[in-house]
Amino acid sequence: MSGRGAGGAAAVPARATVAGAVELVRAERIGKTFDVSAPWLTRTLGRQPRLLLRAVDDVTFGIRRGETLGLVGESGCGKSTVARLVVGLYQLTSGTITYDGKNIDALASGRAGRVLRRRLQMIFQDPYASLNPRWRVADIVAEPIRAHRLLRGRRAVHARVDALLAQVGLAAADGARYPHQFSGGQRQRISIARALASEPEFLVCDEPTSALDVSVQAQVLNLMRDLQRELGLTYLFISHNLAVVHHIADRVGVMYLGRIVEIAGKRQLFAAPRHPYTRMLLDAIPDLELTGKARTPVAGEVPSPLDPPPGCAFHPRCPLADDRCRREVPLLKSVPGTSGAGEGGEVACHAVEEGRDGRAAKGGGEGRGVASVRAG
Ligand SMILES: Nc1ncnc2c1ncn2[C@@H]1O[C@H](COP(=O)(O)OP(=O)(O)OP(=O)(O)O)[C@@H](O)[C@H]1O
Ligand code: SF4
Ligand SMILES: [Mg+2]
Repeated sequence: MSGRGAGGAAAVPARATVAGAVELVRAERIGKTFDVSAPWLTRTLGRQPRLLLRAVDDVTFGIRRGETLGLVGESGCGKSTVARLVVGLYQLTSGTITYDGKNIDALASGRAGRVLRRRLQMIFQDPYASLNPRWRVADIVAEPIRAHRLLRGRRAVHARVDALLAQVGLAAADGARYPHQFSGGQRQRISIARALASEPEFLVCDEPTSALDVSVQAQVLNLMRDLQRELGLTYLFISHNLAVVHHIADRVGVMYLGRIVEIAGKRQLFAAPRHPYTRMLLDAIPDLELTGKARTPVAGEVPSPLDPPPGCAFHPRCPLADDRCRREVPLLKSVPGTSGAGEGGEVACHAVEEGRDGRAAKGGGEGRGVASVRAG
């Protein structure tokens, strides 16, 4: 993370978006490469080359205050790596992330870092792993309040914990119990209460409902939506499940092998998907109602990120691939006619750019039903 100035906290002007709302988070051409080489001695004796895995490659997006950006894609496409980069759990290999105009390198140190860490929280897929099993729930939820010195005195902290438990649909008496005494959905509610305890503005949610039963999934998603409205929260919401993203997101980014291949307003993306991969993903879901019906698997295998195909990484699976696709990486570009107010559709595909995808946009497909997408 070099070249961003001392402390990395230099303020940059907040960008105004098409809709006039200001972006809270901006990721600009971010990349993350992992060194997955064998240990030095094994490599030297076996004359093996160094192995670098590009988990996230040249990813750019913005998230406006109060909105939910959903990130979808098959396993291994880099969703969790993006999440961890955004909250500062991983260091960037390239690019920059700014939060409210400040470089998130500031997360690493000093008072500015403490303030920023309080404003950004992460919710994980497995609440059991992220909750200390030996602590009572009240202590788990109170910990961020104490760590950030948000309240003084036991009674004040106690009252706040009770209020947080009520906010996520749990009883004050639940504070005296331990995490293993709760169901998966209730444990995720505890994680949410704990995340809210530090009074954050931005939550990064990495598959928060994926381990839950379908009926419980919908309840937790509804809770998260209600909390967003009440508290004005901003979400980066990650899921491999398009139905979940359809339920909660305002805009959706589709990732494939470390890159965003399409990003657009939810209605636009579900009603008129443009990238062949987005279309393939949407064709594979039987319904968007969180019924839990089995999905038809998406055709073809995701290539190894250690040896990605040249040009467009999707070309081995793409029905529209041609020579240019096999040579040249397509860049994310706005597609004329797809941008409704604030929807800002962008696609990385040569066929779309050349107009040979057979789906020239007619006003962005706004207002069309999801069913017509699946039929088309
Ligand atoms: N710490 C790490 N060290 C080495 N490689 C990693 C590390 N974390 C992730 N990767 C690799 O980076 C790629 C992206 O992984 P990531 O976990 O971000 O994908 P994902 O989209 O979240 O997948 P899933 O849906 O399975 O959670 C994968 O190939 C993964 O093996
Ligand atoms: S760039 Fe080519 S291979 Fe990639 S999605 Fe578009 S048409 Fe398919
Ligand atoms: Mg993941």
